Formats: sequence, structure tokens, C-alpha cells
Amino acid sequence: MIELKTREIDQLVRAAVEARDQAYAPHSHFYVGAALWIPGEAVVSGCNVENASYSLSICAERVATATAVSQGHRAFQAIAIASVGGVSPCGACRQFLSEFASDMQVIMTDVLTGARQIRRLSQLLPDAFDASNLPVT
Ligand code: THU
Repeated sequence: MIELKTREIDQLVRAAVEARDQAYAPHSHFYVGAALWIPGEAVVSGCNVENASYSLSICAERVATATAVSQGHRAFQAIAIASVGGVSPCGACRQFLSEFASDMQVIMTDVLTGARQIRRLSQLLPDAFDASNLPVT
């Protein structure tokens, strides 16, 4: 898969940082923004949304993905994630992203230092479970 250019990565990271401003995280106080790169079409972002019933909380990556899909986008080339510490996506989000682009670039950004790490989703989720594992109906 083609890699994003440096200026495209910069743009995507900015979108993730901006999305983080909307994070609703009154329980963990851990604020996350995510932004997806849809080549030639759009950047779609999301933030984490928590709930007093903790397990209902949704990560920024899945909010961005569901938002993008609901807008008609499915071809994701990269995702930028912005947080303190530049964390990597949780296991559930890795699986959720993998449904659409198992080899997308994952750019993790520390909002305090600006440090970035870039991986492929296939590095973060090797041997992913996917539709090929399901019986043909
Ligand atoms: N969170 C994300 O939104 N993305 C991640 O990559 C890691 C964790 C959220 C979920 C929860 O609202 C808070 O961060 C603490 O786990």
C-alpha cells in the first residue's frame, strides 16, 4: 500500500489533534482524537466518547471509522491517533480497523511532545481474523 507523504501525515495529525478537543472523557480524563485518510476524498475524524456505564465507552478510532463508513467511505489509507503519550490503538480498535484496511498506516502522536510513531496495522494485528475465516453462505 502507498505511504502518505510527509505533508499528508502532517495534515492528518492536525485533524486528529483537533478532533481530540471534542473528546468526552469525564471518567478517565484520557482524551483521544483520531483521523482517517481517505485518498482523494476526505479526512474523517472522531474522538473518544465515554459513559458512566464504563464499558459503553467508545474509542476515538472506532468513532472515526463508524463516522466515515456512515458517510460512504471505506477505503482508508491511514489513521492518525493523538493522545498524551502517543498510545497505540487497543485490540478492539485494531480488529475494527482491520475490517476495512488491514495494512493501513497507523500514525501515533504524542500531543505533548509531537513525537510520532508509524506502524502498519498488519504489524499491530498479525494473523487477523477476517471474512475469509467465515463459512461461505
Ligand atoms: N482510548 C481511545 O479512544 N483510543 C485508544 O487508542 C486508547 C484508549 C480511550 C478509551 C477511553 O475513553 C479512554 O481512552 C481510556 O481508556
